[in-house]
Amino acid sequence: MSDVKFYKGEDIPLELHKVRVVQKLHLVPIERRLDAIKEGGFNTFRLSTRDVYLDMLTDSGTNAMSDNQVAAMFQADDAYAGSQSFARLQKAVEEVLGKRFLLPVHQGRAAENIICKTFIKPGNLIPMNYHFTTALAHITENGGKIAELLCDGALEIKSSNPFKGNIDIEKLEACIQQNGAANIPFIRMEASTNLIGGQPFSISNMMDVRRIADKYGIMLVLDASLLGENAYLVKQREEQWKENSMAEIIKMMTGLADLVYFSARKLSSSRGGGICTNKKELYGKMEALIPLYEGFLTYGGISVREIEAMAIGLYETLDESMISQSPSFIKYLVETLDSLGIPVVTPPGVLGCHVDAMQFCDHIPQSEYPAGALAAAFYLISGVRGMERGTISSVRDEHGVEILADAELLRLAVPRRVFTLSQIKYVIDRLQWLYDNRKMIGGLTFVYEPPVLRFFMGGLAPTSDWPEQLMLKFRKDFGDSL
Ligand code: F0G
Repeated sequence: MSDVKFYKGEDIPLELHKVRVVQKLHLVPIERRLDAIKEGGFNTFRLSTRDVYLDMLTDSGTNAMSDNQVAAMFQADDAYAGSQSFARLQKAVEEVLGKRFLLPVHQGRAAENIICKTFIKPGNLIPMNYHFTTALAHITENGGKIAELLCDGALEIKSSNPFKGNIDIEKLEACIQQNGAANIPFIRMEASTNLIGGQPFSISNMMDVRRIADKYGIMLVLDASLLGENAYLVKQREEQWKENSMAEIIKMMTGLADLVYFSARKLSSSRGGGICTNKKELYGKMEALIPLYEGFLTYGGISVREIEAMAIGLYETLDESMISQSPSFIKYLVETLDSLGIPVVTPPGVLGCHVDAMQFCDHIPQSEYPAGALAAAFYLISGVRGMERGTISSVRDEHGVEILADAELLRLAVPRRVFTLSQIKYVIDRLQWLYDNRKMIGGLTFVYEPPVLRFFMGGLAPTSDWPEQLMLKFRKDFGDSL
C-alpha cells in the first residue's frame, strides 16, 4: 500500500494478503498459441484458458475470493423464498451502500435490462459520462439513445486530469434544455468509467450532477460496478475527501443517486448483481420484472452461496488494504510502461492498464481494428490474454456503417489479488519486445460478425501472414524460450 515507504524510495506495490490456494497455469509454446488464436478467430474472448498464461481479459468474476467469503458460502441458507442469506445481503447493502430496498439480479447487465425496460420509452435520451457496452445495448434495445457528456480532455490518452470520468456540467444542462427533461428518464453516471480506461469521477462533480438532476426533476442512476475503486481514487486524489473513510466516501456517492445498480462480479464477488434504492416507488416499478427475468425476489438468479459471498465482499470493499491492491499494481504497470515510452492511458485508473493501440499500431487504419490486432499479437507473443476495447467493441449505425471508437485500447485487466509482481514484470518485458517490433503487426477483418455485442463471439482473420512472421521473429530473438 502507498503508506509503506521503502528504504531507497522505490515505489513497490506491497501485497497485504498471502496466497493460500493456488491454481496451476500453463505457458504453452508460441506455435500452439498461433494455432489457438487462429482457432479463436483472432478474438481473445474465444481462447480457452488451457492456452492462456495470464488471463488479463477482465476482472469480472475473476477477482480473488477472501477466506471469509469462502467460509460464508458454507453457511448459505438454501431456500427458494425468504432465504436468510438474502437477508444478510440486504443488511450489507443497507450498511455499505446506504440503500434499504434491494432487487437481486444475476449480473450487471440484468440490472440494466430491468432498469431500461422499466424507465425507457422509444425516443428517450439518456445523458451519461460515457457508455458501457451492455448499458448501451439495453438502452438501444428499448428504443433509447445516449448522449456522452464527458469533461473536455477525457479522451486524451496522456493526461494529468485525476477525474477524467467527470461529466461536463454545462453540456449536461444544455443537453437537458435541448431535449427537454420530459424526454430524459434518467442521467447515468458510471463509477470508474470503464471504456475510457477505468477513469474515476469526483464527488464534487457528482454533487453538481445531482444539483442539475434536482433542478430539472430527473432521476440519477449510478452504475456502481467499479464503485470501490472510484471511492479509493477519490480518497487519493480529491483533497476534500482525503481524511474520510472508505465507508463515508462510498455512502456519500451512493447517497447522491436515486437508484444504484451493480455487477457484483466486479464490485464484491464472483457472481451476481443488484439494484437498490431508498425510494419505495422506484422499487415498486421494477419489482415484478425480477421473478419474470431473474428468479424469485430473494435469490434473483444467483445461488445462495454467491449471495453470502456478495455480502461479505461488500463489507470488504471498505477495507483500503484490499481495495488498493489492484489500483496500486495498475499504477506500477502504467508508470513503468509510460517511462519506457510505451503509449498507455494516464493517469493510471482502475480495472487494468490500457495500452493505446492507435499510437502503438499507428500504421494500422482504424477500419482494420488496431486494438483487436494488438490484443491478438500480444497474446501470440506472450500467452497473456487482454481484451480489445475499440472499434470491434463498437457498433454499426442504422445504415450498417461502422461507428469508429473514440479510442482503440488494449485492456490488460489486473483483477484483485490474483497476479504477482513478477508476472506483471513479464507483461512489461513482452510488451516492450512487441513495441520494438510493432511494425510487424498487421490488421484484422471480420469473417463472422454477430448483430449484437459482436466483440464477444465475432470471428476475424489477419489481413496478411503477419502472425506467422511475428512468430518467426519471436523465435529468432528468444530461441526456444516459452
Ligand atoms: N457496468 C460496468 C461499468 C461494467 O464494467 C460491466 C461489466 C457491467 C456494467 C455489466 O456487468 O458483466 O455483470 O453483466 N464489465 C465487464 C468487463 C464485462 O469486462 O469490463 P456484468
